[in-house]
Amino acid sequence: MQFGSLCTLGHGLGPWLGHGCRSRHSSIISCMSVVRMTHRAMSSKVLNLDTLNPCIKDMEYSVRGPIVIKAVGLEKELKQGVKKPYPSVIRANIGDCHAMGQKPMTFMRQVIALCTYPPLMNDPTFPADAKAKAKRILGACGGNSIGAYSESPGIEIIRQDVAAYIAKRDGGIPANPDQIMLSTGASDGIKAILKLLKQPDGAKKTGIMIPIPQYPLYSATIVEYNMHQVGYFLDEDTNWSLDIGELKRAVDAARKVCEPRALCVINPGNPTGQVLTRENIERTIKFAKEEKLLLMSDEVYQDNIYAPDREFHSFKKVLTEMGGEYANMELASFHSTSKGYMGECGYRGGYCEFVNFDPQVVAMLQKSISAKLCPSISGQVAMDVVAAPPQPGDPSYELFMKEKTHVLDALKMKAQMTVEMLNSLPNMTCNTVQGAMYAFPQITVPEKAIKKAKSEGKAPDFMYAYELLEEKGLCIVPGSGFGQRPGTYHFRMTILPPPERLKEFLERLKVFHIGFLKRYE
Ligand SMILES: Cc1ncc(COP(=O)(O)O)c(C=O)c1O
Ligand SMILES: *[C@@H]1O[C@H](CO)[C@@H](O)[C@H](O)[C@H]1NC(C)=O
Ligand SMILES: *[C@@H]1O[C@H](CO)[C@@H](O)[C@H](O)[C@H]1NC(C)=O
Repeated sequence: MQFGSLCTLGHGLGPWLGHGCRSRHSSIISCMSVVRMTHRAMSSKVLNLDTLNPCIKDMEYSVRGPIVIKAVGLEKELKQGVKKPYPSVIRANIGDCHAMGQKPMTFMRQVIALCTYPPLMNDPTFPADAKAKAKRILGACGGNSIGAYSESPGIEIIRQDVAAYIAKRDGGIPANPDQIMLSTGASDGIKAILKLLKQPDGAKKTGIMIPIPQYPLYSATIVEYNMHQVGYFLDEDTNWSLDIGELKRAVDAARKVCEPRALCVINPGNPTGQVLTRENIERTIKFAKEEKLLLMSDEVYQDNIYAPDREFHSFKKVLTEMGGEYANMELASFHSTSKGYMGECGYRGGYCEFVNFDPQVVAMLQKSISAKLCPSISGQVAMDVVAAPPQPGDPSYELFMKEKTHVLDALKMKAQMTVEMLNSLPNMTCNTVQGAMYAFPQITVPEKAIKKAKSEGKAPDFMYAYELLEEKGLCIVPGSGFGQRPGTYHFRMTILPPPERLKEFLERLKVFHIGFLKRYE
């Protein structure tokens, strides 16, 4: 057991030691070899750390890493009455809206409730439009029950609603329900497309271009599928935009060791909070065309836009409007019920639209997802509410809009408040949170602190986050979990805590940060 927990710690710490993902292997080797010997001697299991799929051993997922595990421990201690220098742990580590107190959209839950328990159709407190929607969905379910499997890409009328949503969002550019698959959150759709790109064993590995900093689903899945991560640095000085020279540098270097096949873009960005300009998207599309890369655009934050000088442009719309050869480029784009104003992470709703894919590849994709049967039907229902919400004149319209506006306005206010406060601190700078749900400030870590961290085998930003948690009970994610330019240090915090909690968070952070600078002066 001792060794088991040692190893867990070693693994969890992987990305925090040294400069992010790359140095994982060397940093855990000493831990691993101790464990390996012990296991050889002791384990009679078919599956042990020696026989486990090595890709699973190598995966990392920082958003749920060792800092969070420690935060959970501290919460337990506080509950048991252990005295700490703070009354409660405030978590700002994960984009889990409802967990942070956001209320569900009434109409969403009414429709899901009616689908789940149809006798509620007789309940006069449920509005007529929710009932009509639930009836329509149930009519498309096997045996009129959401307990039945659906077609593998999802219920057809929901895919039609999603297609209509996309067309409306993109100013009338048509979308085809047969090029849409519903998924178990966006995660499942992203993994399904990445899987298509894997080269056979023995061939040059598939290279997947991902932003650095990135959302760790990408780095983790690339390792899981034994593909090659091709990181391109986002440009912090220009609101985390994509720098085409940097993309070119990354792809040229990568071609020596792998076969780059796809370019992933996250817009609005996680963890970086930028909303890409149309011009930046156009140049990125041109780059992908020149380099013959399939585009994957992660657009799960498309409703979370706060900066008055920014709007959301989908990659589909931009490449279609660019016309000519660009309009034929292969693109997969992803959306989710987990973010936006609804924040329904637990239902695991999402979709993927694939455009300009070879029809034979689409047939193979269909086949590959049919082995999973289908995404959860309640998640599909949630996706339908996002795609086809109440319209003006419907009984639920006003309440729906009121709730939606309330959530988005609060996020906008908190985005501003957070950035202002972070930028008021010495030795910390933060780009405008133009969209999404996160601030990703850069900290100037004093030389002494860097030395201390390194002598303890920790990344300096990990040490910062760890001390912040111990001293002030604040839970954030160190920048090294997402990747960052070597020699720079960041952390990610969400803007999700309710305003009062967020204020308290920022107050405690301020005191800690100033103390940290003093301590290592
Ligand atoms: C950029 C990005 N993509 C995808 C996801 C996955 O979301 P889900 O699988 O819940 O739809 C997240 C979740 O935080 C995200 O931030
Ligand atoms: C970054 O974005 C903010 C707000 O969206 C804007 O005010 C600022 O000018 C931008 N900075 C650069 C360098 O583009
Ligand atoms: C913090 O900022 C001040 C003023 O810009 C600078 O003089 C100082 O060196 C910085 N501290 C560290 C630790 O970098």
